[in-house]
Amino acid sequence: MSGVIEATGLTKKYGDLVAVDHVDLTVQAGSFFGVLGPNGAGKTTLLEMIEGLRKPDAGTATILGEPSWPRNAHLLPQLGVQLQASAFFERLTAKEQLTTFADLYGVRHSRVDEMLELVGLTEHAKKRTEDLSGGQRQRLSIACSLVHDPQVVFLDEPTAALDPQARRNLWELLSAINDSGRTVVLTTHHMDEAEALCDLVAVMDHGRILTVDHPAALVRGLDAPTRISLPETVLSAERARTLPAALEVDCQDGSTVITTRDPAAVLTTLAQWQALTGLQVRGATLEDVFLQLTGREYRA
Ligand SMILES: Nc1ncnc2c1ncn2[C@@H]1O[C@H](COP(=O)(O)OP(=O)(O)OP(=O)(O)O)[C@@H](O)[C@H]1O
Ligand SMILES: [Mg+2]
Repeated sequence: MSGVIEATGLTKKYGDLVAVDHVDLTVQAGSFFGVLGPNGAGKTTLLEMIEGLRKPDAGTATILGEPSWPRNAHLLPQLGVQLQASAFFERLTAKEQLTTFADLYGVRHSRVDEMLELVGLTEHAKKRTEDLSGGQRQRLSIACSLVHDPQVVFLDEPTAALDPQARRNLWELLSAINDSGRTVVLTTHHMDEAEALCDLVAVMDHGRILTVDHPAALVRGLDAPTRISLPETVLSAERARTLPAALEVDCQDGSTVITTRDPAAVLTTLAQWQALTGLQVRGATLEDVFLQLTGREYRA
């Protein structure tokens, strides 16, 4: 089955640096696709080539079956693009910006108020964009990319400047857009975001895609042990070493950390010992996946 987005051999070089290195990618219609990777991995360059904003040195990309480069006017009404560095028309208010975008796409004006409401900017509608906070500007740029109800939405680190509440609101908005059948592609540094939203995640580093899979499958594939930690005052390392299922016991900053492959057995014994106060359980995360794929800690 062919995808709504198909990229083959996409490559971009800046001098000696290969920013994107022969990337093949398929995104199926209606999916929520994440691109995860540290600074400089090539995420923005890859997306911009797919969107038709940057000319590839090699390779091709199609969206909805049409080549995206050279810039394809057919495709534009179907695409919503939020750039990492957003630029607005000068001296316009938030509402005027959004209205300008609506006019460009021939969208009814009532949609402008709906979008302002959706991204929580109704009360800032009359503020000039240069007077908005970083997070408010980011929400406005997301609204601008969605105002024409595009089929395929690209968002480059959409939650980077958002506070936790705005981030959750945006997650809900993006999930709803995806549930309505739209394809969403987003880049992020946040593992929790990728885990919460994406059907598939491409882990990228040094211009290459290292793996593509469901976030949960990536984590499961690691078969990593569980870490259980407790304050040292509740459980000493000495006593923890007597736990039958403990693989390893460490002391870290006032905590006793037990590594185990049988968390149920450890937790049962801890309950019998009445040593559960302050307990924290941590399974593997996508950060561990990155560490395994690259041999390096994730550096966002
Ligand atoms: N116009 C350019 N000229 C020269 N080098 C560039 C240019 N754009 C990007 N690069 C380089 O290409 C590499 C990939 O950059 P890119 O912006 O795609 O990374 P990214 O994964 O989006 O990073 P971030 O998480 O910081 O947004 C980086 O090393 C960057 O310095
Ligand atoms: Mg980027």
